[in-house]
Amino acid sequence: MRGARLAALAFVVSTVASLSLAVVYVLGGQAQLEGTLLGVGLGGLGVGLVAWAKHLMPTGPFVQARKVTLARTGEIEEVAESFEEGAATIGRRRFLARLLAVSLGAFGIAAVFPIRSLGTSPGRQLFHTSWRKGSRAVTDAGQPIRPAELPVDSVLTVFPEGAVGVEDSQTLLIRLPAGDYRPLPGREGWAPDDVVAFSKICTHAGCPVGLYRADTNQLFCPCHQSVFDVLQGAKPAGGPATTALPQLPLDVDGEGYLVARSDYTEPVGPGFWNRNRA
Ligand code: FES
Repeated sequence: MRGARLAALAFVVSTVASLSLAVVYVLGGQAQLEGTLLGVGLGGLGVGLVAWAKHLMPTGPFVQARKVTLARTGEIEEVAESFEEGAATIGRRRFLARLLAVSLGAFGIAAVFPIRSLGTSPGRQLFHTSWRKGSRAVTDAGQPIRPAELPVDSVLTVFPEGAVGVEDSQTLLIRLPAGDYRPLPGREGWAPDDVVAFSKICTHAGCPVGLYRADTNQLFCPCHQSVFDVLQGAKPAGGPATTALPQLPLDVDGEGYLVARSDYTEPVGPGFWNRNRA
């Protein structure tokens, strides 16, 4: 009896904690309280199941004496009593099973709510930036740039005009010494006047790749020391990054300013949302 009461109490406590967890989450959440309620909800289920197993499940060894007939009146009464006891036990178990189902249901409901915290699906948005065909490359002050204004071996962070500061669009312009640019197949004409453009977002974990070493034509990411070879299409040359920095196809507009030929042709940033990328 004590075991049944303990199990029932534990299931009730678990149910109350789980429902309270859902309410706290809906009302705006409070991390410490939610953690405590989650612990009580799970703990209640655990205590109830252990109490059930320990006190209410039959324990062996079981020996059944076989009797062909119930000869004596005393024996008949004994059997009747044990049937009544068994019926009471079955009733208790049904009640406990219902309580268990309720507490599991309440816990399931509480566990479903945090799915909302994952936010809305990003959809295809991670595969595009603000660069468009004809977008001028501008500094963070909004200044468009002509290739000749960039000193050789210099690096400059630019954005598409109208989207200054947009993180996924930050791009590095590098002016290479004349004739050094060796385009990868399909990228011919992407570097007017030897100016190349690569995404500034490291493909390892998304830090800004801000350091350029002109004598080796390498870009460095300060976070985990990934190195990218600019003359090889910004392929990784060291460090944990395994994917090249995407290259932005450049052109020059009628006024001589650097513009994009299109958006990046591959997703920028860490490759975790596109594992099939080369
Ligand atoms: S984020 Fe660049 S190396 Fe890790």
